[in-house]
Amino acid sequence: MKITLVTAEEIRDSRGNPTVRATVLCEDGSTGSFAVPSGASTGTAEAVELRDSAARGAHVSLALERITTEINGALTGVEVADQKKIDALLLALDGTENKSRLGGNSMIGVSAAACRAAAASRGVELYAYLRTLADIAPSHETAPFLYMNLINGGAHAATRLAFQEYMIVPQTESPREALALGSEVLRRVEEYSASRYSPAARTVGDEGGIALDVEDTEIPLKILSEIRDALPKQDSFRIALDIAASSFFRDGSYRIGERALSSEELGERLAAYAAAYGLLSIEDPFEETDFVSFARLQAALPATKIVGDDLTTTNARRVQKAIDEQSIEAVIIKPNQIGTVSETLETMALARKHSVDCIVSHRSGETMDAFIADLAFAFGTFGIKVGAPRAKERMVKIERLIELADLCAA
Ligand code: PGA
Ligand code: ZN
Repeated sequence: MKITLVTAEEIRDSRGNPTVRATVLCEDGSTGSFAVPSGASTGTAEAVELRDSAARGAHVSLALERITTEINGALTGVEVADQKKIDALLLALDGTENKSRLGGNSMIGVSAAACRAAAASRGVELYAYLRTLADIAPSHETAPFLYMNLINGGAHAATRLAFQEYMIVPQTESPREALALGSEVLRRVEEYSASRYSPAARTVGDEGGIALDVEDTEIPLKILSEIRDALPKQDSFRIALDIAASSFFRDGSYRIGERALSSEELGERLAAYAAAYGLLSIEDPFEETDFVSFARLQAALPATKIVGDDLTTTNARRVQKAIDEQSIEAVIIKPNQIGTVSETLETMALARKHSVDCIVSHRSGETMDAFIADLAFAFGTFGIKVGAPRAKERMVKIERLIELADLCAA
């Protein structure tokens, strides 16, 4: 089925910032859209977001213009189910290393919209269509583990807390059960915070978790583990961290409050937390170019997965380097970090070929799009990061996972 029109409009993300929604139409009348998310603690190797200026929250009319003129021109008449060709055309049209000419936001918008349009044209669910595009070994036969970010710091909160995300990972492959537990733990975190902190010291972060104004990076771990111990069922969830260490790395050291930690000191602190709290995973424990320190920490912590995000940026070359240097056991997959669906699938396939687990992830600035739920479900990824189970942009992903799990159980 051929593409007849590629179009786009500006919408707002969960932070209220402008972003792109691209739509692909086919000759049989089927359509597909994708609403592009946006990061705050972005890796420097990510595909560049095209905005009208460098100002925070700038409009995206330049990106819309690229879509409605150049991209529309290049893709009209192309077979919508030929995802590889669509993405190759986008890459050729862009012609840059970092996708700065068309913009990673324009490109992923169109690439994922085409994928949806192709699924619609065939009359199949998105996850089922995605499976026809790649052969990726699953970590899970059922639904991925939900990573729920309940305590927010770093670039996602205006507080002193340096580490970005304190997540719980319910130990169930039932997304419905995971949601119920996540909501209960979030409620208990709120109750606990309200009993000890002033309202100004417990606001809400970008991903819907509590933004606690504390400097001590261990306090959120203590809170989560106390709550875990008080639950009727033992070990119902594990704790995972996203340090997003590049965001507090300045002049060669890691700035936490008044202290400037070396990578050895930060590594020792994280190893101690991993042991004390049985951490499931630690994402971006060091700044985004330090593959060696990642590898050292992974070697020291065989029971904890070290995860690449800013380190790897869903980029196959960077993931290959992380594999070669044994820096990670898991990798974050964010389609908008790399800019096309084909490259996203290629990176996932590479990771799984080397037994590196994939954790598909939302961004801190999210939309109502649930594409990533289908992506994670399609390939049985180890996990999916969905933020706190209350903001609507996060809930739609969880609800879609529940729907898919039910669909496949039926
Ligand atoms: P971002 O953060 O979406 O703001 O880049 C998410 C993450 O670091 O995992
Ligand atoms: Zn991250």
